Amino acid sequence: MIQIGIIGSGAMGSGIAQVAAMAGHKVKVYDKNEAVLKKAEANLKATLAKLVEKQKIDEDKANSIIVNTHYTPSLNDFKDCGLVIEAIVEILEVKQKVFAEIETIVNENCILASNTSSLSIASIASACKKQERVIGIHFFNPAPLMPLVEIIPSITTSDEVLNQSKKLIDSWGKTTVITKDTPGFIVNRVARSYYGESIRIYEEGIADFATIDWAMKTFGRFKMGPFELMDFIGNDVNYKVTESVWTQFFYEPRFKPSLTQKRFYEAGWYGRKSGRGYYNYAEGAVMPSPKQDENLGKYIFNRVLCMLINEAVDTMYLNIASREDIETAMTKGVNYPKGLIQWGEEIGWNNVLTTIQNLYVEYQEDRYRPSVMLKRLADKQ
Ligand SMILES: NC(=O)c1ccc[n+]([C@@H]2O[C@H](COP(=O)([O-])OP(=O)(O)OC[C@H]3O[C@@H](n4cnc5c(N)ncnc54)[C@H](O)[C@@H]3O)[C@@H](O)[C@H]2O)c1
Repeated sequence: MIQIGIIGSGAMGSGIAQVAAMAGHKVKVYDKNEAVLKKAEANLKATLAKLVEKQKIDEDKANSIIVNTHYTPSLNDFKDCGLVIEAIVEILEVKQKVFAEIETIVNENCILASNTSSLSIASIASACKKQERVIGIHFFNPAPLMPLVEIIPSITTSDEVLNQSKKLIDSWGKTTVITKDTPGFIVNRVARSYYGESIRIYEEGIADFATIDWAMKTFGRFKMGPFELMDFIGNDVNYKVTESVWTQFFYEPRFKPSLTQKRFYEAGWYGRKSGRGYYNYAEGAVMPSPKQDENLGKYIFNRVLCMLINEAVDTMYLNIASREDIETAMTKGVNYPKGLIQWGEEIGWNNVLTTIQNLYVEYQEDRYRPSVMLKRLADKQ
């Protein structure tokens, strides 16, 4: 079994290290911050103790994982790794520097992967001499619990590296999908409408946060409403991803961030973790009640859902991923109750197209233009 190296032992790196170690690999974990490294080591021990207590794993397994996971302050310890996954800060120049450095340490067959959420794999790979060994392997948070992993070959990645990476991550019990190296990959691209259209509905004064959340949960069976979910993810993280996807798509209006969320981000109203976001999480704070108006709820749900379906169809149209992988990504990566393309079929392509076209006629904004494929699907119906 190959040795796995993880660079960065924050939220994602430590989770990915746990997944790899539980799959039986020897794992090396490096972070430039030794305090974070120590904390990650202590957290792994605590997590394993809990898993033993819950009888999910036995003590021997827990001990072997501890023995096999080495937290090291030196990247030189990665020289025997067969795969290195980088999960450090989301800054291109910092990642490029780390990739250039790690390439001088590992052997020539070692695969170098990035867990980036929003940067292009081609730009990270450009720091390496052997660009064909660089690939995106994008886990979701928390990595030990979320089943989906997006595998992102860049234009320079070799087929062999793609196949080996997919096979390996599948063997860890994860569900993999393959996506082109485009901003947001599948999940973070398609899901933008869930947040963006909901904020837009709020900004227009059509409904408040609680009512929009209620509508999406009641009529769409989404597990969390968009505002609850943004507060859970963090408005800092969510805003930054939106801004990054928008700018990388050359300011595509469909992905345009909202000033509402920007102000929440600027004010430090990140959500649950800061105690205040779209909702107030202070002790004793009263959660607002939704306005349970069925017509309003159905309008909100239909508008957001159709925007999501339009994006999923466009992702398929542009061959970013296969239909099957788009459906898997949204159901396993963000727990949508149903694949969006199946949902479109069920409610009828003509209905989806009419909703989007009506929005376009009303607002005369490019964000409401239907995908060419949506028009073709509606024509065929
Ligand atoms: N948090 C999420 O929900 C999530 C989900 C999927 C992907 N990602 C991506 O995973 C990566 C890591 O995110 P995170 O949430 O774990 O961040 P984090 O802030 O929790 O951890 C990042 C770690 O990287 C370390 N680090 C920074 N620069 C370094 C360097 N030059 N060398 C070594 N270590 C360095 C930091 O000390 C820190 O411990 C990012 O690229 C992010 O976009 C995050």
